[in-house]
Amino acid sequence: MKKEVAARGVDLISLGIGDPDQPTFPHIVRALAEAATRPANHRYPDYEGLPSFRAAAASFVGARFGVELDPATEVVSLIGSKEGIANLAVAFVDPGDVVLVPDPGYPVYGIGTLFNGGTVYRMPLTAENGFLPDLAAIPEDVARRAKLMWLGYPNNPTAAVATVGFFADVVEFATRHGIIVAHDNAYSEIYYDEPPPSFLATPGARALGIEFHSLSKTYNMTGWRVGFAVGNRELVAGLGKVKTNVDSGVFQAVQEAAIAALTGDQTPVAEMRQVYRARRDLLLGGLARLGLEAQPVRGTFYVWVRVPRGFTSASLTAKLLQEIGVVVTPGSGFGAAGEGYIRFSLTVPEARLREAVARLERLRL
Ligand SMILES: Cc1ncc(COP(=O)(O)O)c(C=O)c1O
Repeated sequence: MKKEVAARGVDLISLGIGDPDQPTFPHIVRALAEAATRPANHRYPDYEGLPSFRAAAASFVGARFGVELDPATEVVSLIGSKEGIANLAVAFVDPGDVVLVPDPGYPVYGIGTLFNGGTVYRMPLTAENGFLPDLAAIPEDVARRAKLMWLGYPNNPTAAVATVGFFADVVEFATRHGIIVAHDNAYSEIYYDEPPPSFLATPGARALGIEFHSLSKTYNMTGWRVGFAVGNRELVAGLGKVKTNVDSGVFQAVQEAAIAALTGDQTPVAEMRQVYRARRDLLLGGLARLGLEAQPVRGTFYVWVRVPRGFTSASLTAKLLQEIGVVVTPGSGFGAAGEGYIRFSLTVPEARLREAVARLERLRL
């Protein structure tokens, strides 16, 4: 539909995908350029990640979240966190295993499960529960058969953040039922109030948890494909074992640039947060004036908006695209519980957001 509308010559405002519009910070690009000239980096990389990369990842996690890691056994490099999220299921999900997946949620959690013969049990995230799953609502027999639980906060698509108390409840639940907890922290640095916590900082989490980190959103590096997983050493080793059989690691020059990102000046990240804050406030203000109900945006660069009466996620998405050239994502694309919502992404300049709001105004929803 988007191609059809674009072919008509419509000036599309793309608020559909989560790909930062700003460039990678210059000191990181310079580090890559320098590292790419060194022949040692032209060979196969260290599969689990250069020791120096893993040390940089551990020091970032230590400084930011207060979680001390052994770089040799508790950190593995990833070709973007998506790769690790998909491969975790290869490592740990066997046919018949139940995997607890948030709904709405990042689609790879469920798809990785299905590719490996697992059964997805969807945990609804509702506004009433602050978009945190209701653990008490998971039936006993499902919890008994569950192998793995996926969580991700700051949350795509709902923009919610988790509380320390919720993570403590998750540790208690997962310990009681012998469940692995995989926490996706790809948006850890995109926040508006207090810095969100690591799941691994929760007492007891290290015994059963693995956490996924990404440089994609933090440093505007989506195209570079670099991230890392940290946590329980058996879980990290299991993921690493799969990876040594299916890929050969991250280009070492990219790892060196990632070290520059993780250990360098973090001021550009704080400045980036201010850019998203201004965009968020602009869009939230516009939506409120139009009577559209947005959920609180505590993290990520998404805005999760309730669809007005008379529309579905898909019908409103189609109307916005065809009538005003504004591209959003239908909430139903993130799972059945996403029905009734659309997601706006804050990855365009303020002028474009202002224009999107002006066009929405014309629609009189
Ligand atoms: C929730 C979530 N997790 C993980 C990823 C994957 O990011 P990457 O593979 O670039 O690290 C994304 C990308 O959009 C995401 O939204």
